[in-house]
Amino acid sequence: MGSDSVTRRPQIVLGVSAGIAVYKACELLRLFTESGHDVRVVPTRDALRFVGEPMWAALSGHPVTSEVWESVHEVPHVRIGQSADLVVVAPATADVLARAAHGLAGDLLTNTLLTARSPVVYAPAMHTEMWEHPATQANVATLRSRGAIVIEPAVGRLTGADTGKGRLPDPAEIFRVCLRALLRRGASDLAGRHVVISAGGTREAIDPVRFIGNRSSGLQGYALARTAVARGAEVTLVSANVALPDPAGAKVVRVESTLQMRDAVLAAAAQADAVVMAAAVADFRPVRASDTKIKKTPGEPDPIQLTKNPDILAELGRGRRPGQVIVGFAAETHDVIANGQAKLARKGSDLLVVNQVGENLAFGTPDNAAVVLVADGDPVEIPRGPKEDLADVVWDLVAARLA
Ligand code: CTP
Repeated sequence: MGSDSVTRRPQIVLGVSAGIAVYKACELLRLFTESGHDVRVVPTRDALRFVGEPMWAALSGHPVTSEVWESVHEVPHVRIGQSADLVVVAPATADVLARAAHGLAGDLLTNTLLTARSPVVYAPAMHTEMWEHPATQANVATLRSRGAIVIEPAVGRLTGADTGKGRLPDPAEIFRVCLRALLRRGASDLAGRHVVISAGGTREAIDPVRFIGNRSSGLQGYALARTAVARGAEVTLVSANVALPDPAGAKVVRVESTLQMRDAVLAAAAQADAVVMAAAVADFRPVRASDTKIKKTPGEPDPIQLTKNPDILAELGRGRRPGQVIVGFAAETHDVIANGQAKLARKGSDLLVVNQVGENLAFGTPDNAAVVLVADGDPVEIPRGPKEDLADVVWDLVAARLA
C-alpha cells in the first residue's frame, strides 16, 4: 500500500574548512547519509585543496561548490541555509570561526551560516597555539553566546609530530552530538555552565595483578557527557576504567581508584555548576596493596584487610558551592524507592537517579529505566529507553534548578 505523504529527510549542511582533519569529515558525511539524512556539503575554497569536489559530490549525491556565483538563479547562498535542519562545520578552522563570529559573508559557507536558523555545531581543529589564542577564544565565546554549540577539540596528535589540544574528535562522536542537537532543536540551555560527571567503576588494587572492581560499563556516564556537550555545557568527565571512545568535546580525566576519583571530582567540582556521580564507586579498599603478588601460604591469616572508602557524593553534598546542583545514582535490587529516599537524604543530594538492577537493565546495556527522586519535589519516572534519553531528563531537571 502506498502513502501520499513523503517523509522529508532531515536536511544537514556539512561545512568543511581547510584543516588537515578534512579527511575525517568524509567519515562524518557517510554517517549522516547512511542514517537517512540528506547532506549538502559546503566546503571553503581552501578545503578543496585537501579533498576535492568529486569526493564530496559522490558521497553526498549533490553538486558541490564553495562559491555564491554558481547556479545563481537558485539563490544558493540563501536557500541552503534556510532549508537546513542542522549545520555542522567540521573541521572548523580558526579562520572560519573568526569569519562566522564577525558575520562575514565572502563565500557560500559563511553566507549559509548567516541564513541558517537551525542549530549550528562547530567542531574546531587547529594547532594548540591557534586554539588558545585570545582572538580564537573570543570568537568561540561570541558564537556560543549566540547559541551555537562549539565542541572543544580533543587532545592528541596534531598534524606534525606534535601533540596537544586541537585535534578533531572522532567523527562518530561528533555525529552523536549532532544527532542530539538535531533532536533537541539546538536548545543549548547548559551554555556557560560547567558540569562534572563521574563514570565507570573504580578499582581497588589488591596486588600488582588483582583488584576489587564492579561491572559498570560507563555507558550512562558517557551518555550524560555527550548530551551535556550537545546542550552547550563545558564538561569534565572523570572516567574510571571505561573502554569507550572519548565523548566529543568533554575533558576526560582518567582515574583508577576511589581515592583518585575523589581528588579529581572534588578538584573539578570547585568550579562546577553541577556534579553528577554516575560512577559505581567501591565502598571498600584493601588497607594496603601488596607490592608483590600475594601467594597462598598455608596457615597464614587472610591477607586482605579492607577499609572504608570516602563517600564522594556525601562530601559533595556537604561542601557544595552556593547554587551548585548535586546528582547521585543508585542501583538497587529491592525496596527501590524507600532505599533511594533514605540515600538521597543521607547523602544531601538534590537528585538521585534510582534504577532497579536485573531484568537486563542498567549494567552494560544501551537502555535504562529509572525514577529520579527529587529532594524537594515529586519523583520523576523515566520509562525504559536509550541512556541518552535518561541523561536528557536529568539535564532537564538540573537546568531547571540552575535557572
Ligand atoms: N558514591 C560515592 N562514593 C562512594 C560510594 C558511592 O560517591 N564511596 C556515590 C555513587 O557514585 C552514586 C551514589 O553514591 O552516585 C550511590 O552509590 P551507592 O553505591 O548506591 O551508595 P552507597 O552509599 O554505597 O549505598 P549502599 O549501602 O546501598 O551500597
